[in-house]
Amino acid sequence: MKSNKIRIGIIGAGNIAQSQHIPAYLRLKDVELVAVCDLKEERAKEVAEKYGMKYSTTSINDLVALEELDAVDICAWNNAHAQAAIAAAAAGKHILCEKPMALNVQQAEEMLKASKKSGKVFMMGFVNRFRPDSIVLKDMLDTGKFGEIYYSKTGWLRRRGTPLGWFTDTSKAGGGPVIDIGVHVIDLTWYLMGKPKPISVSATVHKDKLGNYKTKGVGRWVAFDTDNLKFDTEDSAAGIIRFENGASMNFEVSWAINAKDTGIYSHIFGTKAGASLNPFAIYGEDADYLMDSTPTIGKDDRFFNEISHFIDCIKTGSQPVSSAQDGLEIQKILNGIYDSAKAGKEILL
Ligand SMILES: NC(=O)c1ccc[n+]([C@@H]2O[C@H](COP(=O)([O-])OP(=O)(O)OC[C@H]3O[C@@H](n4cnc5c(N)ncnc54)[C@H](O)[C@@H]3O)[C@@H](O)[C@H]2O)c1
Repeated sequence: MKSNKIRIGIIGAGNIAQSQHIPAYLRLKDVELVAVCDLKEERAKEVAEKYGMKYSTTSINDLVALEELDAVDICAWNNAHAQAAIAAAAAGKHILCEKPMALNVQQAEEMLKASKKSGKVFMMGFVNRFRPDSIVLKDMLDTGKFGEIYYSKTGWLRRRGTPLGWFTDTSKAGGGPVIDIGVHVIDLTWYLMGKPKPISVSATVHKDKLGNYKTKGVGRWVAFDTDNLKFDTEDSAAGIIRFENGASMNFEVSWAINAKDTGIYSHIFGTKAGASLNPFAIYGEDADYLMDSTPTIGKDDRFFNEISHFIDCIKTGSQPVSSAQDGLEIQKILNGIYDSAKAGKEILL
């Protein structure tokens, strides 16, 4: 008998799938984890057994061919996102795709085309949009009380925080901190600004400075496989993105730089008020006096919020907050950063 639950297949059973996505699905009553695919056969089998999934495989094509699946969640390396999404769309499955969308703009365009053709939900896992502070600020910005948003500043500087594993290998990741953490801050800030159309990028990208450090006593994100390590990506970047409406965004990102760790920060500047995230503050005026305020926010349950939203979109047929189109726009900016740095000048998107 056909189950009424939304039946999910996980593609890529590594760190983010096991630490965040699977635990979030397990908290939802109307979801069933049915299948898992990983290049590592043993890993796929172990995960299937641990979470009571019926199928495990090493082949993306075999997983998406399962009639019993409604949706797939792509948690594999970045170089597998396009292949997995295009195959899943062709098989008529709903898709949640971890960030970044793809390795490059061409792949992202093909993914968008495949998703439009399938008519199923395609959601980007831009998890920072699902933080409680982001949700509250977006809600406030949408009221228009900040006036015209004409400038923003964002970044994530890690003093020593290069991830260990495939992240530093361009063939698997597509790039370094720009594509790994720049994607988070640029997407969140662009979303808060109301998604103005990006028209140009001017950026610098720094390579072989100190990303491949030997500093002791520092923690890092560790991928499930740390054999055959390669380091051919940048380790920091900075620049400016211009938008069609005259607004602009300054950004800076690093995996390793000699500065204080900033965490993810965003500053949004409007003509009537401004806002900062991390820490959350609103800078406005009241009765002609400057007024700073701090909204009260709930518990940070960002991955659960993201995954619940994906399931809601499948059930209601509504458009996800973070669409495939948004994924493509962000991919254009990310690759524009590399193109500008290579050309040594501002480039048009
Ligand atoms: N949203 C976030 O904050 C966040 C944090 C970390 C990672 N991520 C994203 O999640 C994805 C996975 O990152 P991770 O840290 O879990 O890496 P990981 O290496 O720990 O896990 C990835 C898994 O995918 C498998 N895999 C790779 N290519 C495959 C393919 N073609 N078919 C089947 N399986 C394949 C690997 O064997 C591995 O088990 C990446 O896209 C990364 O950018 C997002």
